[in-house]
Amino acid sequence: MAENKRVHIKTYGCQMNVYDSERISDVLAPLGYETTDTPDGADLVVLNTCHIREKAAEKVYSELGRLRPLKEAKASGGGEMLVAVAGCVAQAEGAEMKRRAPMVDMVMGPQTYHQLPEMIAKLHRKSGEALAADFAVEEKFDALPKARSVNGPSAFLTIQEGCDKFCTFCVVPYTRGGEYSRPVDQIAAEARELAARGVREVTLLGQNVNAYHGEPPAGREEDGDWGLGQLARHIAKIGGIERIRYTTSHPRDMDDALIHAHAEEEKLMPYLHLPLQAGSDKILKAMNRGHTLESYLTLIEKIRAARPDIAMSSDFIVGFPGESAEDFEMTMEAVREVNYAQCFSFKYSRRPGTPGASMMKQVAEDEKSDRLARLQALLESQQVDFNASCVGRELPVLFEKPGRNEGQLQGRSPYLQAVHVQGSQDLIGQIAPVRIESSSRNSLAGALVREGAAAA
Ligand code: 5AD
Ligand code: SF4
Repeated sequence: MAENKRVHIKTYGCQMNVYDSERISDVLAPLGYETTDTPDGADLVVLNTCHIREKAAEKVYSELGRLRPLKEAKASGGGEMLVAVAGCVAQAEGAEMKRRAPMVDMVMGPQTYHQLPEMIAKLHRKSGEALAADFAVEEKFDALPKARSVNGPSAFLTIQEGCDKFCTFCVVPYTRGGEYSRPVDQIAAEARELAARGVREVTLLGQNVNAYHGEPPAGREEDGDWGLGQLARHIAKIGGIERIRYTTSHPRDMDDALIHAHAEEEKLMPYLHLPLQAGSDKILKAMNRGHTLESYLTLIEKIRAARPDIAMSSDFIVGFPGESAEDFEMTMEAVREVNYAQCFSFKYSRRPGTPGASMMKQVAEDEKSDRLARLQALLESQQVDFNASCVGRELPVLFEKPGRNEGQLQGRSPYLQAVHVQGSQDLIGQIAPVRIESSSRNSLAGALVREGAAAA
């Protein structure tokens, strides 16, 4: 039996990093590592980093500065604290990271953390390269352990990585590499493993998840690659899996098969994160998004025809280079037109190496702040209205964990809203109908329709 060691993993950024962090702990478990909430006294600290917006690398270096005394304290007590930097900052900085912060023992990009045990062993032998930053994504998924630790009834499952779209603001194509889709059988096996461990809801993840085009299951080779609609229907057949979500989608890859799946597959949840980014065609073009406002609105009409109650979500960037006051008004108008349930919005941040960074007509910082404040006020009012529109309805809720108050449960509605009720903790991991009684900006509250009945 491996000796007991402690690993602290700190995760920044997107859900794909959350998935990767869970898998990092799975990779380390056979070596005897248990996860701990604090870096204090840990044998290994992993910073799983994000590079999407400003000062990402600086944040990592300052976190490393805070870790240094802990590492030194461990060493002076005769112990050892290894420090690994993983994720997209590691990919972008590479060897530079070890030069700037010699206390870093290992640097690994998002596709190489399965090599962690080997890297630790090499370090202990004091030889070899403690730097891994290639794009062998296929190898990563093959090498990951089949067993998965789960944390409640809802789990992430990465099905696709990387991106070939090259939006001019975005670092992802540079940090995560080109598009790669995992084979259907590999994904289904992971979903079955999750279901066997009590998972009821899987969120299929990918930077460009609806561009998924994976190898078909054994015996179905004549189909050619499967798309996301087909994959979702396949996963829906797995016993125990009651809900399927996916994120993040690109408007260019929303095909009819996926839209039809929303009409026909009950387990596919009525929530869609479909980033528009901006409402002006001039800006969309400069962003290299490959769609116009009109094509996006037409797409939403089609999706709503298939699934009328679908809750729409988006990302927005304000102050992209060249965005005039009129361009920004077009974003506001587009938001009014679509009427979103929940959105994320950001000030444009210059990412070195991306085309946007060297574009003329960068927008002044205070102008970006003003636009963001106006946009967020509008998005917030739509979110408040959407939540309020659920009051009086009966919604099936998947209960995930105890709520903050005594006797309270927290779960999610089909529309991804947090829902609080009073009820037995036995309901955790189950779906039960809730009568919604009140709403706020970020959540709903209600009462179980049949107290105790669903637990039977
Ligand atoms: N500046 C601001 N926001 C960005 N995003 C990606 N790159 C940038 C950037 N350079 C936002 C986009 C994307 C989300 C994940 O992050 O809206 O959809
Ligand atoms: Fe980045 Fe655009 Fe690819 Fe999304 S589609 S990951 S925003 S380049």
